[in-house]
Amino acid sequence: MAVLLVVGARGIALGEITIGQVAASLFYVFIFLAPLQELSDLFERYANGTACAQRIFLLLDTQPEVQDREQVKHLEQVKGDVAFQQVRFAYDAKALKPVIDNLDLHIPAGQVLAIVGPTGHGKSTLVQLLTRFYEVNEGAVTIDGHDVRDLAQSNLRQHVGVVLQDNVLFSGTILDNLRLAAPNASDEQLIAAARKLGADEVLESLPHAYNTDVGALGSHLSHGQRQLVCLVRAYVADPAILVLDEATSAVDVQTERRIQKALRRLCEGRTAIIIAHRLTTIRDADRIAVIRNGQLVELGNHDTLITKGGFYASLYQAYEENTFGASSKAPIATPQPTLRLVTG
Ligand SMILES: Nc1ncnc2c1ncn2[C@@H]1O[C@H](COP(=O)(O)OP(=O)(O)O)[C@@H](O)[C@H]1O
Ligand SMILES: [Mg+2]
Repeated sequence: MAVLLVVGARGIALGEITIGQVAASLFYVFIFLAPLQELSDLFERYANGTACAQRIFLLLDTQPEVQDREQVKHLEQVKGDVAFQQVRFAYDAKALKPVIDNLDLHIPAGQVLAIVGPTGHGKSTLVQLLTRFYEVNEGAVTIDGHDVRDLAQSNLRQHVGVVLQDNVLFSGTILDNLRLAAPNASDEQLIAAARKLGADEVLESLPHAYNTDVGALGSHLSHGQRQLVCLVRAYVADPAILVLDEATSAVDVQTERRIQKALRRLCEGRTAIIIAHRLTTIRDADRIAVIRNGQLVELGNHDTLITKGGFYASLYQAYEENTFGASSKAPIATPQPTLRLVTG
């Protein structure tokens, strides 16, 4: 362009060419440059595309560590009797101390079991073993007496519903996300389920109510709203075994209180394992298991554990003091400042 301008200017000055000819030449250079630019854009896109494709293929070619056995059982119906038998597990096989150490726990069908314990002591790991995202190193996890390793993974996960602390939704509307659990359900049935669970008030206040687009990974919803959608989804899926791992941690106390009854309804008629850091949520559980350093240290209902005056009693007292201000009771003997339980 610069050369053209200089030569053109000289040509005009000498009267060899006209301004129109220079302008036309400049125009031609413009037209010539545009495809070149596009060509270089194309190369950039191509480089980007191959890099992305490589990552996609890498993901597709990854072999999961947990594989179905050759002979697997398919259970049509399960009662929901869950047992951990002498379970020992470590994420890192070379670790000195296992995450779960020789744990025995039986949850009869239809019971609600709450698990409490300090952060990082293995509560969520138990859930991962039950859903077989990891396999035990020793012992077994059984459902209705069948080792989970003998079941097809798809079959196992049909019967176990899980709501976690941080859940991922897929882009689409709230109804689309609920429908994942029941592909044939009508809009009305899904909305009725949300109402039954008491999630309607929050979900209906969204810009387009149940037709609100949740965005990639559910990013347009708040943490608590995502948890509510997942609770409704678990309700719609109607599994025999339900696991709630800090599933109401991001819901405010009022909303939680409102869905408290609904949670009870959610647990009705199925085996439920509830891990919660607000102790009020778990007080009515049939039994409470206290996990410490990957071991079961106390088991019983709220009243027995309080009377026993052990670890749970001290947790509960600390929790009450935190929630309702200083209580008249004597100060706890062993303060547990690192507990997540006391911050609720
Ligand atoms: N995927 C993982 N890989 C390696 N270590 C893990 C993994 N998940 C959890 N852990 C470790 O296992 C221990 C128990 O974790 P977790 O069961 O999540 O505790 P929590 O009781 O808080 O739910 C922690 O020390 C944690 O660091
Ligand atoms: Mg956890």
